[in-house]
Formats: sequence, structure tokens, C-alpha cells
Amino acid sequence: MKDLDRLAAPGTPERELLDRLAPESLPRHVAIIMDGNGRWARQRGLPRVEGHRAGIRAVRESVEAAARLELKALTLYAFSTENWKRPRWEVRTLMALLKEYLAKELRTMVENNVRFRPVGRLGELEPEIQESLAHAVEVTSANTGLVFQIALNYSGRAEFVDLVRAATAAARGGTVAPEDVDEEWIAAHLATAGVPDPDLLIRTSGELRVSNFLLWQIAYAELHFTPVLWPDFTTRDLLAAVADYARRERRYGGVVEPGHETGEEADQ
Ligand code: IPE
Ligand code: IPE
Ligand code: MG
Repeated sequence: MKDLDRLAAPGTPERELLDRLAPESLPRHVAIIMDGNGRWARQRGLPRVEGHRAGIRAVRESVEAAARLELKALTLYAFSTENWKRPRWEVRTLMALLKEYLAKELRTMVENNVRFRPVGRLGELEPEIQESLAHAVEVTSANTGLVFQIALNYSGRAEFVDLVRAATAAARGGTVAPEDVDEEWIAAHLATAGVPDPDLLIRTSGELRVSNFLLWQIAYAELHFTPVLWPDFTTRDLLAAVADYARRERRYGGVVEPGHETGEEADQ
């Protein structure tokens, strides 16, 4: 039973929107490129890091909304392998905010039955951050609800490089044969193994690009771009994206027309 009252109060436009959504039209996995923190701060004459600080509310709200919608997975892009190019102070603040977030939000994750799963080259993060991440993973490991993946020191290409390295090492060791490598094998060896591919990819701040995020996994994701800057992103914006997604017709290269079934049945 979805916790709709806590997601959108009865009588509000968001609740009406939610009540009209058929459960089967909801995405299973939503991925978000959280963008626009710097511009949000600049608009207010504040240092960029204040935008990151303000963005934490939007993270908290999105995780809670995804849990209440009973999505299977939510993946948030928090730090890309390219973000190391930023000023040292900004990188340090982002890491400090992450630690603060984990310390504060762990209880809420447990209460909401959320399983936490960081994805990315975690071994290159500061040991202290690695410890906080490992602790959050451990504390939430028995939870059975939303899988909350946070992409940290992540990029789709780096993930692919790591996969090819693992595959070639396994081939050399004789544990995998070339013919064993198919799409299922690849999906099972990516950082996101075990969760369905994102059905819906949201990017805030009006930028129209994917910036090296989940390149394999978004092959057939529906894309939703919003001009809202990440610190201003609310449950209402998430619901609007989900409602937009629910109206899409997904074809996966096939044909969806009355009388035309897609795939093998069409030939029979
Ligand atoms: C997104 O906001 C946060 C991260 C990439 C960590 P930005 O910091 O990219 O904000 P803009 O794009 O400069 O406004
Ligand atoms: C993408 O945002 C990365 C994250 C949200 C973590 P960026 O702000 O780094 O992307 P570009 O540089 O505008 O493509
Ligand atoms: Mg940006």
C-alpha cells in the first residue's frame, strides 16, 4: 500500500495526478542527473558550495518520494569521474556534505526500508568516505524496499573500462569464454547489477546531455529534462516527471499499433 497521503496531500493537484496514474505505468527505476547547484548559488550571490548544501533537501525529498511510490530503484548522480577537475575546495565540500548526509539520513533510510548502494570507483575516494559508505551499506543491507544507488566517482565509460578489464582477466584465467559474454553477462557485471535499467532519466537545470551517466543502462530510458535547478527540485517536480513518463509509448524498436504485435508472436 503506497503511502500516498505523505507524498501528496488529498485535494492537491499533485495528488490528483498521482490518483490518475495506473500502478503499471510507474517507472521501476528512476535515475537523476542532479544539476544546477552552482547556478542556483550564483543567482543568489552565494559561493557554489552553498548550492550543493541547498541541494541536500532535494536529495532527501527524492529518496523519500521514490520510497513512498514504491519504486524499485532510484539512482542519483552525485559526483562524476570528471568532477575532480573542479576546484579543490569544492570537491572537499562535496565529500564533506556526503558524509554529513549519510550520518544524518541513515535512520530515515532504515525507517523507509531503503537499501543503500554506492556505485562508482569507490576505492579512489578518501578512506573516511569509504568507511561511511560501507557503514551505510551494511546497516541497510537487509532492507527490502527501494534500492537507492548513489553514483560517486562514477562515469559510464569508467564503468565500462572496469568491466572490460574484469572480463579480459577472467578470460585469461579461463573462468569465462568469449561466447559467455552477452548482454546478460555484461549487465550482471556492471556496478548496477541486479536492478532493472532506468525507465526514466531526469536531468535538472535545462542542460540537454547525459554527461557520461549510466551509458549502457539508459539504452531505452525515457528522458525528461526540466529547467528547475537541483536545489529547487521537489516531490512535485518528481511527480510531474513520472506523469510525463506515464504518457510515453515505449516501443523498444518494435511496433505498437492495434493489430500489430511486436516480436515473434506477430509471425504466427
Ligand atoms: C550539480 O551541480 C552537482 C554536481 C555536479 C556535483 P553543478 O555544481 O554542476 O551546478 P552547475 O551546473 O554549475 O550550475
Ligand atoms: C553531471 O553534471 C555530473 C553530476 C550531476 C554529478 P556536470 O555539471 O558535471 O556535467 P556537465 O559538465 O555540465 O556536462
Ligand atoms: Mg553542472
